Amino acid sequence: MGKINYDARLHTGYVAGRQLSPDALGTWLEAFARHLPDTRPLSWLDLGSGTGRMTPHLAGAFGGPAHGVEPSEKMRAQAVAGAAHPAVTYAAGSAESIPLPDASVDAALLFFVWHHVAGRETAARELRRVVKPGGTIFVQTNFSDLMPDVWWFRAVPEWGKADSAQFRTQDEVIGDFTGAGWTLAAREEVTWPRSASLAEDYERLKRRAVSFFELVTEEQIEAGFARIEELLPSLGSEPQYETSQLLVFRR
Ligand SMILES: C[S@@+](CC[C@H](N)C(=O)[O-])C[C@H]1O[C@@H](n2cnc3c(N)ncnc32)[C@H](O)[C@@H]1O
Repeated sequence: MGKINYDARLHTGYVAGRQLSPDALGTWLEAFARHLPDTRPLSWLDLGSGTGRMTPHLAGAFGGPAHGVEPSEKMRAQAVAGAAHPAVTYAAGSAESIPLPDASVDAALLFFVWHHVAGRETAARELRRVVKPGGTIFVQTNFSDLMPDVWWFRAVPEWGKADSAQFRTQDEVIGDFTGAGWTLAAREEVTWPRSASLAEDYERLKRRAVSFFELVTEEQIEAGFARIEELLPSLGSEPQYETSQLLVFRR
């Protein structure tokens, strides 16, 4: 595991704090389908599957099976309890050590995961081992040079600084994979609906289910929330969208 331990606290608010709406899920599934063959079924690895936010939907949309692999016991337990599907299995493991046979999946997803992976060289090679020749991996993470424009980081720049320090540049991440023999097939921006309103976004933020909360002090957290409370009346109530960068690599 990387330096942020999801077994310590982050797992407690994750399901409620990071839930994806049907519209958000649909946006992501369509983005993946754009880069995959039309044949079904397609088998998936959801690497760093967490609480199973994506895993059953991958199985449902592409015919399964989908293998969720997750190092945090407490995140994985929530997936087993709350994100079951007949074509889904959840197993202990990590990007550096994937408990799947060689050439066993058509596609792999790393959704908000790569910045947590410490052994990047090993992990990129492990992915090449388990993905079939011609198969695809989808890497969704933030990049220090392309950070999304999020209102709470505009309100509390100190939080934003701590957050962007977790990430590397897009070119560095592309190099992690091309260096292990992957070919960059596409990069695209995906704009997805994060919350139906700013108030909903804020309620979820209060669950502290975003990893930057582990990188700032309790004083910085309290001061940030006080600042947000002050600004709240001027922040509006519009639906909140986030634009993410999706990298697609082919084996
Ligand atoms: C932000 S969560 C994303 C979970 C899930 N993909 C989602 O989108 O809801 C990051 C996950 O990566 C997992 N993780 C951390 N280090 C990892 C590693 N080396 N290999 C695989 N997963 C890892 C964490 O335990 C955590 O569940």
